[in-house]
Amino acid sequence: MHRSFREVIELLESQGKLVKIKKPVNPKYEMAALMKTLEDESKAFIFENVENSDYKAVGGLFTSMGRYGLIFNGDGSEDFTYEQAGQKVMSGIANPIPYEHVDSGHVTETILQGSDIDLTKLPAPTFFELDTGPFLTAAVGIFKKPNGEINVGFYRCLIIDKENLLINASGLSDLRKAYAWHKENNKEMRVAMVLGAPPALLMAAASKSPDEVSELDVAGGINGEAIEVITGPDSGLPIPADCEMAFETIVDLDNMVENTLGEFGAQYGTEHAPMCKVTSLLQRNDAMFYTLMAGRAKEHNNLGYLTVYGISKGLEQKIRQGYPNVTDIAVHFDTKIGPLMHLVIAIKKTDDDEPGRMIKELFEMNMGFFNLAWMAKRIIIVDDDVDPNDMDDVEWATWTRMGRAEKLYTFPNFVTWEVDRAALPDGTSARIGIDATKDMDYADDLVKPVIPNEENIDLKNYI
Ligand SMILES: Cc1cc2nc3c(=O)[nH]c(=O)nc-3n(C[C@H](O)[C@H](O)[C@H](O)COP(=O)(O)O)c2cc1C
Repeated sequence: MHRSFREVIELLESQGKLVKIKKPVNPKYEMAALMKTLEDESKAFIFENVENSDYKAVGGLFTSMGRYGLIFNGDGSEDFTYEQAGQKVMSGIANPIPYEHVDSGHVTETILQGSDIDLTKLPAPTFFELDTGPFLTAAVGIFKKPNGEINVGFYRCLIIDKENLLINASGLSDLRKAYAWHKENNKEMRVAMVLGAPPALLMAAASKSPDEVSELDVAGGINGEAIEVITGPDSGLPIPADCEMAFETIVDLDNMVENTLGEFGAQYGTEHAPMCKVTSLLQRNDAMFYTLMAGRAKEHNNLGYLTVYGISKGLEQKIRQGYPNVTDIAVHFDTKIGPLMHLVIAIKKTDDDEPGRMIKELFEMNMGFFNLAWMAKRIIIVDDDVDPNDMDDVEWATWTRMGRAEKLYTFPNFVTWEVDRAALPDGTSARIGIDATKDMDYADDLVKPVIPNEENIDLKNYI
């Protein structure tokens, strides 16, 4: 079973997890401050009275991994794990169901064109002090890739004026590639931005699917049922029939504009994005504006984890194949420690040079469209008595087993993902490797104290 966007909202309300704010709220900073507070309390929200807007703003739906259970669990319980959410997406990728065209749906209830469109009337928050302006943060963009497949991804949009917005494409995105291709081939490009998409499509949009598989079909695979789409009147693009609103745009790749937003790594990100003119706005009669807290925020990050889930799994597999004495791997992609990955690998080592060799080789490892260093800031090698998933254990190993200074590896200039905002002007930044394994000669002196049979002792049996 699966619930629609509206059904998830209704469920949260019935469970008492949704707060309705009726007081007038200023979309500049005040709304963001409230969103942050509500997110900290795991409350979903509807702002019913955002100044200068007739739309209600909704959000805070998926502030924990468990919340994905609201989509799929019949009893509405919140018990999903990262692994389950990631596997849902992987199964959608493995068993996609093609989307289906219908003539109409909620999204065609109202269609605005020309001078009737006014993006400045949307309750879009301006989040942080140095942000350029109000952003759509929860919009998924739909466009046709040069290979003919329909692509869907999250792309943040800055509202410029009544009919123009910027659509940002990161270096990791297919959108960036599509922009480049359309520019090079001088082809017109259309992108439809959708708010309040079916939840499975939000999950699929956040993830990276193979080039030949459309995220619309991945979402169908996740639901076990095709996503119904209408044909966009201007763009011809497939637009989910059941969504809150959709903006069809024409992209002007000759007009790239700088814009800044506080990003998921809790750093400002300044990007250049093309000016996109909205040609039509399709919406439900009672459309709500879906918004995600920007910056280092739970709902955003949970979706972000889905972006890297497949990459992490592929990476783990590749490392295990290349290094048979690896016993465990953890890919930490946690904005608490910045926007890049930190990789911890447990090994049964056979010589003292092995961890250093691995660190150097792994940073250079080809991941398809980038080498690992592009996305990974730090690689830590630990012994097999350390749990790579437990960063406390990893810290302990680092500061108790790294006697020789040579076990700390620094690399000055790896080409880096642009979200690494500490990068130098040439687009490179430092990488660190840590050999936190015991030196062979001292291994007996550095044994971790353990209590034999501790795991089988249960206090309940003694009191
Ligand atoms: C909330 C959220 C916001 C995001 N914002 C952007 C963005 O502005 N630009 C971008 O290129 N990717 C952004 N991403 C990441 C992409 O959506 C993600 O990498 C996706 O897989 C890209 O799809 P694509 O490779 O098919 O273009 C965001 C992800 C999330 C979860």
